[in-house]
Formats: sequence, structure tokens, C-alpha cells
Amino acid sequence: MGVWANRQGRGHAFGKVILLGEHAVVYGVPALATGLRQGIQALALPGPAGRSHLSAPSWGLEATPDGRGPLDTAFRVILEELKMLDRGAEVVLDAEIPAGAGLGASAATAVATARALAALAGETLGLERLAEVALASERVFHGNPSGLDHSLAIHGGVRYFLRADAFAPVRVAVGFPLLVGYSGQVGATRDTVSAVAAFYRAHRAETEARFRAVAELVEAGRAAVESGDLFALGACLTENHGILRGLGVSTPALDRMVDLALEAGALGAKLTGGGGGGCAIALAPRDPGRVEAAWARSGFTSFVTEVRA
Ligand code: PMV
Repeated sequence: MGVWANRQGRGHAFGKVILLGEHAVVYGVPALATGLRQGIQALALPGPAGRSHLSAPSWGLEATPDGRGPLDTAFRVILEELKMLDRGAEVVLDAEIPAGAGLGASAATAVATARALAALAGETLGLERLAEVALASERVFHGNPSGLDHSLAIHGGVRYFLRADAFAPVRVAVGFPLLVGYSGQVGATRDTVSAVAAFYRAHRAETEARFRAVAELVEAGRAAVESGDLFALGACLTENHGILRGLGVSTPALDRMVDLALEAGALGAKLTGGGGGGCAIALAPRDPGRVEAAWARSGFTSFVTEVRA
């Protein structure tokens, strides 16, 4: 291959939290999600030809394109998509979000890595192409991803999401802090998506009714964000959690986090992302510290992200 055009390339991607609509979104229901200020920075440097390597020190993870784990495979897919498998690149990720927590880490990894590799080669990926590369990588982790994660990873902001090619920015009337807490258990999106699919096959009409209820919550939540009605938004969150729980994707730890948040004065709380572990979010605009403290007393770590107007 030719000489690298640039001696290094950098790429950024946002983490995300789903405010409303996970799982139902796989069945064509809209979802409401927000990019996180926290995300991933990738740095790509030239490496020995054909021997690319990726590392994420904060996760203690490494990957090579000929390895057998999902991150190895995803890395190979990205290199193949970019026609860079024969070249050698050393990619280092600076990740501000935990992996396997439902915060879009795999999609953010794909987006940041693809951007950095393309920049190293002296190219800029168009948004559509970037989305294709990220989706190919996401399929390794999630089988049949809705595309929400990589869309948010690329664009950030609050988005009303229907499909990867149909998602609209949402105007935030009043910015608010959002608490993101980790249940201590790695999320299991692939398993929970399969479990919901099995539930859907077995109880089609009932599941569709639940998805219709989620769709209404997403519309109400969007209106609440656009009008600055945080009480209404909070109520939507808690109700959505109840539906997710009914679908079997919550865990005792996530339910406990929701209960603790509400007891500590949150306007609403729910699991976020695939569930089966991972994270919960809580809306406590007046005193997020009380929820943080309540979670911390029970051993749940958390951080606050700002949803900006
Ligand atoms: O766990 P996460 O952050 O990857 O979110 C998964 C969201 C689902 O709706 C369950 C699946 C999807 O592809 O949208």
C-alpha cells in the first residue's frame, strides 16, 4: 500500500442514552435518545503492514483483525470496509464511557475508529459512508441493530429516531441534568433483543399493544422535552420502565435503582438501552446529588450528563 497521507488521524464519537423507546424501536416504533457529552476519542497511527492493533486502556481491552472475539471481528470489519486491512494501523481509544453498559460504546468505538483511520489515510468519510461502516461493525455485536446507537454516536444531541435514515433533532426548551447510573452488571443487549423477539412470537397481540403504549410515551416525551415539562418527561420515563420490566429485560438491580431514584425525589427513572444489566437513568433536575448519594449508598456508581437546550 502507499505511504500514509497523514502521520496520525483522530476521530470522535458521542456516547448515548436512550430516554424512551428501546426494544420497541427494533419493531419500528420511534425512540427518543440523547448523545452524551462523554464519548470516545480515537487516535490512529501507522503500524506494521497487515498487523493492525486496537487498544482501549480504560476498558483493559485489545483487538487485532485476526482475533476471535467480537471486538476483534468488529475491528476487522471496519478495516475491511475502509479497504485498510493490508495496511497497518495502531488505534488507541480514549473512552470516557464504560463498555457494555448500554451507553453506545460499541457504536462509538466504530465511529471514532473509522473516523481516525480515514483521517490517517488522508480521507474524510461522508456521513452516509460512516454510518454504513458503523452499522457493519454494530452487526457483530448486536445482530440486528436498529441503527440508533451509531446515529447518535455520529451526531449527538437529542434525537427523535425512527430509522437510521430518518431521525430528527429535537429542540430542548429547558436544559436539564440527567443521571446515568451503572447497575454493576454488564448489559446483555443481544440476549435481551432475542428474548423480546421470542416474547413477541409467543404473545404477538399483547406485545404490539405494549409497543403502542411505548410509542405514545415517546411522543409525549418528545413534546415534554420541546415544551420543557420535566414532570411529564419524568412520568414517561417511569412508565416506560414498567413496560420494559414487563417485557423481561430489567433486572433486580435496575428495578432497585429506579425505586431508589424515585424515593430520593427523582421525577422519573428507568433502565436505558438493552437492559439485562447496564445502566439506569434518573431525572432529578432540582437535586441530582440526592439520587447520586442514594445510588452510591447501595453501591451503584453514576455520573451526571447535561442535556443542553
Ligand atoms: O444496549 P444498547 O445501548 O446497545 O441499546 C440497545 C437498544 C435496543 O433498542 C434494545 C436495540 C437496538 O438495536 O435499538
